[in-house]
Amino acid sequence: MVNAAVVAGPDATIEVREIELPALGPRDVRVKVAAAGVCHSDLSMINGTFSPQFPLVLGHEAAGTIAEVGSAVTRVSVGDRVVVNWAPACRHCWFCLNSQPWLCTAVEGLVSPERGAVHVTLGVGAFSEEVVLDENGVVPLADGVPLDIAALLGCAVVTGIGAVRNTASVRPGESVLVMGLGGVGLSAIIGARLAGAGPIIAVDIVPDKEKLARDAGATHFVLAHDKLAKEIRGLTGGRGVDHALECVGNSKTIRTAWQTTRRGGKVTIVGVGRRDDTVSFNALELYHFARSIGVSVYGSGDPDRDIPLLATQIQLGRLDLEPLVSHRIGLDGVGEAFERMKSGTGARSLVVF
Ligand code: APR
Ligand code: ZN
Repeated sequence: MVNAAVVAGPDATIEVREIELPALGPRDVRVKVAAAGVCHSDLSMINGTFSPQFPLVLGHEAAGTIAEVGSAVTRVSVGDRVVVNWAPACRHCWFCLNSQPWLCTAVEGLVSPERGAVHVTLGVGAFSEEVVLDENGVVPLADGVPLDIAALLGCAVVTGIGAVRNTASVRPGESVLVMGLGGVGLSAIIGARLAGAGPIIAVDIVPDKEKLARDAGATHFVLAHDKLAKEIRGLTGGRGVDHALECVGNSKTIRTAWQTTRRGGKVTIVGVGRRDDTVSFNALELYHFARSIGVSVYGSGDPDRDIPLLATQIQLGRLDLEPLVSHRIGLDGVGEAFERMKSGTGARSLVVF
């Protein structure tokens, strides 16, 4: 039995209670979780955005140490440090064979699979002292990267930096606007800085996000307002940005990202919105502005490649993720972390075991 943060239904409060781990299959590993980040997608499990099954163990962004391996496991050994990949690709479906593992059909629709008496968020359920995963759901982590920081590689960082690199393909000197400055948006800012972009304009509705954004590498911070597009054009030679990355997940911010982008520029949608929230474009404006809209899914890369690559950058001192962490909490602090997320207070909260 291990302690986990479990929620009984969409409106229920989060309860820390014991759960039983499933027995290990031949290709499973048991991970002793060291740290797990609180991501907006965890909140989306209980606020009506997703429709998961309950009781549900929350959490999907984690790192830890291998405590036990099934008889057929080859990828890792007991004692190895790993980052959890919540979307392990099957490597044999059409999408995997055509270099788009982030669209793997084995992962499609994965929200809350059953693990014994509970369901687990995105196949992980990381707010738990230990988790059982398929060996393909863990990525070995190099020495020299602290496990708590490494947890962020498992979702926010791969998602935000991947959106900049893989989906938007930001080039040096291009202008980038990042809308929504949570763990994902701040990671996108870090990615834009690493890509040599500039100006990097950070936008949020919470004034306190300015310091976090500037620490991550933003050159400008603008508080969202009704005439935002006009102000952004003023910062970009009258044109609008080359790239706008939407890291909130609603129709209003998608429209704003669109309007702040220059003619021929690119909007990248990173936020995950609700089914009942419709975005509309008229047919003339779609043609007239010649903007393109892309969607980034879990960074639209390959976590097996990208997580070690980012870990190396941390090791070399070229990637500092400490600015992303505003709170270190215990398992019983997840509810408060959600409240901070709702009010836009701080950056990532990290559950440290
Ligand atoms: N305009 C600008 N910023 C906004 C707006 C808005 N209308 N509404 C909310 N925000 C800001 C919040 O103040 C907060 O800083 O968006 C940020 C969202 O941050 P988090 O809640 O911490 O979310 P995060 O974990 O970063 O995820 C962002 O990416 O992966 C998806 O499901 C995830 O849709 C979510 C998004
Ligand atoms: Zn996430």
